[in-house]
Parts: sequence; C-alpha cells; structure tokens
Amino acid sequence: MARLSGKVALISGGAGGIGAATAALMVKEGARVIIADLVKNGLEIARGTGADFVSLDVTSEAQWEHAVREADGKHGGIHILVNAAGIEGDQKNNSLMTTSLEEWRRVHAVNLDGTFLGCQKVMPVMERQKQGSIINISSIVSFFPMPFNCAYGSSKAAVQHLTKSVAAWGSRNGNQIRCNSVHPGLIRTRMLLNIVAQRSPTPNDDGSAAAERLAKTTLPLGSLGAPEDVAQQIVYLASDESSQVTGSEFRVDGGWSLNLGGMLGPR
Ligand SMILES: NC(=O)c1ccc[n+]([C@@H]2O[C@H](COP(=O)([O-])OP(=O)(O)OC[C@H]3O[C@@H](n4cnc5c(N)ncnc54)[C@H](O)[C@@H]3O)[C@@H](O)[C@H]2O)c1
Repeated sequence: MARLSGKVALISGGAGGIGAATAALMVKEGARVIIADLVKNGLEIARGTGADFVSLDVTSEAQWEHAVREADGKHGGIHILVNAAGIEGDQKNNSLMTTSLEEWRRVHAVNLDGTFLGCQKVMPVMERQKQGSIINISSIVSFFPMPFNCAYGSSKAAVQHLTKSVAAWGSRNGNQIRCNSVHPGLIRTRMLLNIVAQRSPTPNDDGSAAAERLAKTTLPLGSLGAPEDVAQQIVYLASDESSQVTGSEFRVDGGWSLNLGGMLGPR
C-alpha cells in the first residue's frame, strides 16, 4: 500500500525545487496534494505532477486562510502541511553590516512569518481531526554562525525553534499533531545555484560548476544533494512510519555538520 494513501497534503513553495519534488513524491505515495505558491505557472506545474494548485503568498495572513479553506473545503481535511516556501535574500548585501532593515524584514517575512502563519492557520483543521503532521523546511545553516547571509540564518534558526513550540502545542489534549524540521545542506535547486552564482568570480557562471566544487570540498559525502533526497525525508515525516517522532530536527546535509571543526583531513 502507498505510504500516504488517504492523506491530504498542502505544500507551500510546492512549485519550486524541494517543494515540487516533495509534491511529486507525495502524489506517487498516494496523497492528494495541493501546491501553494506565488509563481505564475503554478497551475501548470501542479497539473504536471497530478496535484491541485492554490495561489499563495505566504506573507499574507488572508491568503493563508484562503488556501487552508480551499484545501479543507475540497478534500475534507488536511493531514500534512509542508512549509517549504523560502527566499535566500539579496546575496550582494547580506553581511551583518550591509543587511538593511528592510531586507532583514523581507527575508524573515517569507521564511519565518510564512511558516508561522502556515502552522497557525492549519492547526484548527488538524485539531478537529486530532492528528496531522507539519514539516518545516529550515536549513543546515540554523546550526552555524552566518556573518554573511545573516538574515537567512536567523530566519532558519527561528523556524527550528518555532517547530518545537508547534510540536508541543500539537500534543496537547491527547492530539497527535506532530511537527518536525528538516535541515537541507547543499541541494541542487534554483536557490542554491543563485547563491553560488552571485558569489562566483567567474562571469556567466550559472552556479552549477561552482556548486559542485563547493560540495566536493565541504561535504564529507562529496556531492550535491537532489531535491528528491530531501523529499524522501519529508515523506517519512509525513507518513505514519514516523508516528512517534515530533519536535525533532532532521539533517539532509551530505555530512556537512561532521566537517564543522575542519578536522576531517583531505578527501
Ligand atoms: N537548496 C538548498 O540547498 C537549500 C538548503 C537549505 C534549505 N533550503 C530551503 O528549502 C526550501 C525550498 O527551497 P529550494 O531550494 O527548493 O528553493 P526554490 O527557490 O527552488 O523554491 C522555493 C519556492 O518557494 C516559493 N516562494 C518564494 N517566496 C514565496 C512566497 N512569498 N509565497 C509563496 N511561495 C513562495 C518560490 O516561488 C519557489 O517555488 C526553502 O525554505 C529553502 O530555504 C534549501
């Protein structure tokens, strides 16, 4: 039997790299999936994977309420919420000293406020069902200092903490509403390629070659992850296979965390 059969999943950022791979895998595993994203071709992307689509800017409380109402109204429940929408922010002015307050707020609005709103708006539906699984996509950088990309790092560390508050809330009154965070490392998506390209000294580099080099030198396992690698972790957390798992952090980072002390030696 498919691992998610009978379940309804709402995925913010579901039209992009990790979210889209998750949507495709969840459809394959028997879930009814609603992709929620702000891209113009979202409906087309959703149709391509057998999912539904609802337009959503995660920074808008009213749009979250609408997306949850749509999914719940059409499918009679929401068993899985994946908060995958995220932005990397301006990669040119992202240090502690060059990040403007406006940019700081923009990054937190999408990555943190968007995740908070998703958790809050879906909670009454899951409380009605007395069960559900929320998966928040944080980042491996939530564990690192980030003197560059400091707004992104802060937003992802806050998502990690918020996840535990949601998990604690979801277990009240005998409810089985679980919430976990997933921490990807270097995953081949538009976001990573843009980050690397912006920093590349080579003009016209789309980031691919530099990202591969970065993976080779940084990750003990030596290569970039695919969005599908993260999707597998998310599907596990969405399924009943993880029914005893809540408030936890899951790294999909090619072993990056092992290398923080820089003591692994040459590869
Ligand atoms: N790629 C990586 O290496 C990596 C590493 C760590 C964490 N992450 C996280 O994984 C998640 C997915 O990122 P990705 O790498 O797939 O990037 P991506 O840019 O390919 O996808 C992000 C998706 O989020 C959507 N989005 C952005 N702002 C939105 C908004 N305001 N409302 C609704 N949707 C919005 C985009 O349209 C896009 O479809 C993000 O939260 C990101 O921070 C990625």
